[in-house]
Amino acid sequence: MVTIHDVAVRAGVSATTVSHVVNETRPVSDTLCGRVLLAMDELGYQPNALARSLRRKQTHTIGLIVPDNANPFFAEVARAIEDAAFNIGYSVILCNSDGNLARELHYVDVLANKQVDGIILVAAGDSAHHVRLLQARNIPVVVVDRDIPGLAVDCLLTDNVQGGWLATNHLLTLGHRRIGCITGPSDLISSAQRVEGYRLALHTAAIAVDETLLFPGDFRDRTGYQGTQHLLALADPPTAVFACNDLMAIGAIGAALEAGRRVPADLSVIGYDDIHLANYTNPSLTTIAQPKGELGAAAASMLLERLHDRTLPPQRRLLTNELIIRRSTARFCAVPPGRVSMEPL
Ligand code: RIB
Repeated sequence: MVTIHDVAVRAGVSATTVSHVVNETRPVSDTLCGRVLLAMDELGYQPNALARSLRRKQTHTIGLIVPDNANPFFAEVARAIEDAAFNIGYSVILCNSDGNLARELHYVDVLANKQVDGIILVAAGDSAHHVRLLQARNIPVVVVDRDIPGLAVDCLLTDNVQGGWLATNHLLTLGHRRIGCITGPSDLISSAQRVEGYRLALHTAAIAVDETLLFPGDFRDRTGYQGTQHLLALADPPTAVFACNDLMAIGAIGAALEAGRRVPADLSVIGYDDIHLANYTNPSLTTIAQPKGELGAAAASMLLERLHDRTLPPQRRLLTNELIIRRSTARFCAVPPGRVSMEPL
């Protein structure tokens, strides 16, 4: 194998000079640079990329840890991050924590040992300890989507309270008064904030929250299905359901149809995320659109800013969501006892 020393001898310079040319760590005169590049070409010298990057302390690789890579929301955010990183010469290593803190810690260790330049993290839960481990190893972190309170770290979030309020207020403007809510995991701030928005919208409309209308979900379709089965079996079932993410809303539609309910005629359903598939459910899903593309691109750029200047104070940005009205919600109007029907929009 041709070494840096072989190139130095061939070019008539020191190995240090060859290293400065290969790693661009110090200016070298055009003459000497030319002799080194000619010798490299003649000998077929291939600089060791990892060795080069270790000297530069850069691998031009970033790690991305998400809680569920099978959830289209994370796939769409990951896509935006990877596009932004690739366009500026960085590769992305995607890891799935499966919403499990021990598995997240495993990937924190794997990525740190692979010398990634930085990590973008969607927390599996209370991941503060994991972020501090990375900061202690001088690896920049950008926390995305799920807040981790009490940390001095770059953070990029969306306004979950606003999103929960938008979803619930949409159903209220359609005349619904008994509105079910299928929540995300109880330990996740993003879910708790959406439920806070739900409660705020009902309070603003002077409607008391009926706690029997809340069902604990886990952001997966199965609990949306189970939650809707439960709500429809109540003595006084809701006429609308707010599911705190689209996968649970899709499960909710399935459960309603299986129970012989028409969506939205008998039950309006609204989701949260606006994954691409929301356009193709039957009926198409009314939802709250999180700015996934902006979230991904902004996360990548926030991390690169940190890589270029470690002294920057931690940044914290909050992006807003948008109501997307499709066919799964409709106006509520009471009809003769024993039956309710909704006129399509
Ligand atoms: O669908 C997964 C959910 O978890 C999304 O709403 C996203 O905000 C993440 O926190």
